Parts: sequence; structure tokens; C-alpha cells
Amino acid sequence: MSAVPQGKRVLSGMRPTGALHLGNYYGALRNWIELQYRYECFFFIADWHALTTDYEDTSGLPQAMHEVLIDWLAAGLNPGVATLFVQSQVPEHAELHLLLSMITPLAWLERVPTFKDQQEQLKEKDLATYGFLGYPLLQSADILLYRAAFVPVGEDQVAHVEITREIARRFNHLYGREPDFEQKAERAIKELGGRNITLYRQLRRRFQETGDVAAIERARALVESNTRITVADRERLLGYLEGSSVSVLPEPQALLTASPKVPGLDGRKMSKSYGNTISLREDPDVVAAKLRTMQTDPARVRRTDPGDPEKCPVWDLHKLYSDEPTRQWVQQGCRSASIGCLDCKKPLIERIVEEVTGMRKRAQEFEENPDMVANILIEGGEKARAAARATLDEVRRAMHLRPQ
Ligand code: TRP
Ligand code: SF4
Repeated sequence: MSAVPQGKRVLSGMRPTGALHLGNYYGALRNWIELQYRYECFFFIADWHALTTDYEDTSGLPQAMHEVLIDWLAAGLNPGVATLFVQSQVPEHAELHLLLSMITPLAWLERVPTFKDQQEQLKEKDLATYGFLGYPLLQSADILLYRAAFVPVGEDQVAHVEITREIARRFNHLYGREPDFEQKAERAIKELGGRNITLYRQLRRRFQETGDVAAIERARALVESNTRITVADRERLLGYLEGSSVSVLPEPQALLTASPKVPGLDGRKMSKSYGNTISLREDPDVVAAKLRTMQTDPARVRRTDPGDPEKCPVWDLHKLYSDEPTRQWVQQGCRSASIGCLDCKKPLIERIVEEVTGMRKRAQEFEENPDMVANILIEGGEKARAAARATLDEVRRAMHLRPQ
């Protein structure tokens, strides 16, 4: 049914912070929307992550999750191709988190940059909890549970993908050995069928004898594109190419989102905590009013004072929204004081009103059909659970957590 190429998986999550704003859209969501047509994608609302810093009053969570989901759909995430779900509806995240916690050295968690930073920055919150310390590990479980190859994240999250790689490596080192691995791998080769059997053997030999990288890459592609073998056999065949262990939990790679600078109304980065946002489904009149009072180059006190777009956050919005002729008109008009700031903002107001109007229109269908939204999450949750269970089966087996 899916039109998406199988194989490499993408996973990412977002905390349920309520209605999303333009910064969230250009910083993450827009990228997810592109990825969904190129990979098998899993995107989830990280409600458990919200608890790691805000556990006292959780009453706003349902509404916040609803808003995020509506925004995802309005922006173009397509539940027909991507799997959309809520973390707490897939309890397998908790099981993997627990198992990984057994092998994670405390020091690894204590040295994650966000641990100390956030404890210092968010002094008003009690972040001396077990849950907060373990939050990067919960994220590792999120990622490894789906054997994601790629994790689209912003700069601030790269360290979390890095620790995930270390944990995967440690797990595979500890538990990636099956006593009868070679026999099982040999049996799996036969499952490849036809001439792929000889081809796999030739490529493996070439890599092992001469270190031929092109050979191992071809062999990997051969294994990954084979849809007849089981997930377990696929991991065995991949592991067998290099040596004698299975990579039960493959190491993910961060896909750093190239995010343009999205200024908030006060000129600082757009962020909910600064209260300087334009939300994705903002009322068009409010968009216009907010932009009209947006911070400009502080040196332009009077209409007759020339300005410098480089010192103006409105210019950053033009870089995001305006075509070349408009940008030239801004540059020239600002520097010569031939246009006023309100003139300068006019084309932006038009573009952004157009954008939020499109979002509002697409959101309407979902706002009016709560059942449809609920079903998207139920279906997404089921698909996610099936994928998660397949990994956990392997994990349990590797850790000998099965009665004889
Ligand atoms: N920690 C991420 C954030 O605060 C959200 C998140 C949770 C996530 N689990 C994830 C992102 C897994 C990528 C992959 O933004
Ligand atoms: Fe900023 Fe435009 Fe005013 Fe120049 S004219 S200061 S770019 S808003």
C-alpha cells in the first residue's frame, strides 16, 4: 500500500509544546514533509519527554498534543505515507529504555551537554530527577526501537544521536553474538535465492580479503533490497559481511536540518519561551498586527533615517519569503530611506497571511473531524508497535530474556 521505498528508516520526535510556530515549521517540520516521500518515516509526539522537565502539572498535555498533530497535518505530513503516533501509546519505548539503562554508564548521561546546561538555565524547575538524567537515553530508545538509519534533528540534538550510536555499539558488542551465528548466517545466505547467493559470497570474500569498500557496499545494498528475508536474517547477513556478530541495533546517523534563521517579533530567535512567535494557524489579522509592530533596525528611528537590513530581523524574514526583485527593493529602499518600515513589511504580511491561510484551510477538515484525527493516531500507533515489537523480539532474544 505504501508508495514509499522500504529499507532505510527515518525517525524523529517533537515535544508536545502546543500550537507550532513558523520557527518550528522552517526548523523541522518542512524537512520532515520532504523526507516522508523518500524514506519510511516514523514521527511521534514525545509526551514522555515532556514529563522529563514538566511533571507537576500535566493537565495541558492532551490539548497540546492535539494542537501539534493538527499542525503536522495542516503543514502536510501525510498519514498515508508516514507513520504518526504518540510515544506513550507505544509502551515498547519504555521497555527498551529500561533494558538500555542497564548497560548505560552514568557518566555518559552526566556528560550530555543539555544535562548541565538545562539544569542551570531552568533554575525554577526541579531537574534533579532520575527521569531528567535519563532523558537522552529515552531518546536513544526511541531511535533504536525502529532501527532508524536517519534522525533529522537540529544542532541542539546532535549530541543525543551521538550517545545513541555509542549505546548501540555497546549493546551490539555485549549481546550481538549468537553461539551458532555462522551457521545461521550461512542458512540466511541461501534464503537470498538464485544468483544472489553466489554474488553475496563473492562480495563478502572480496571485502574480507582486500578490504574492498565498493564490494561491501554492493553487498549491503543486495541484502537491504531483498524483501523476502526476515529482519533477523537481514541483520545477520549485514553483520556477517564484516565479521561474526549481528548488529541487533544499527547505529543511526543524524540528519542535520539546514534550518534558516527564523527571527521572532522581538528580533531574537523565534521561540515559544520568548513569547515572540507567529503560529502556523494564526489569525490573519493577528499576523498583520504582529508584523506591523515587529522590531526593525533600531537605528531607523525616523522615517527619513536610512537603515541597514543586515541589522534588521525583518530582513531575515524577507530572505525566507521574498523573491529576488523584492529583496533588491528592500535593500535599496531601506538604505536610501526611500521606503518606510511599514512599506517594507507589506509584501511579507501578504506572503505570511497567505501561508497561514493555507494552513488554516487544511486544518479545518481535521478540526471538524476529531474521529479522523483519533484514527490517524490509532493506526499510526499500531504500525509503530508492530515495528517496535519486531526489534524488541530481537533484543530480548539477544539478551536471553526468554524462558527456555
Ligand atoms: N528530544 C527531542 C527534542 O527535545 C525530541 C525527541 C524525542 C526526539 N525523541 C526523539 C528527536 C528521537 C529525534 C529522535 O526536540
Ligand atoms: Fe528593516 Fe525593512 Fe525597515 Fe529596513 S526598511 S529597517 S529592512 S523593516
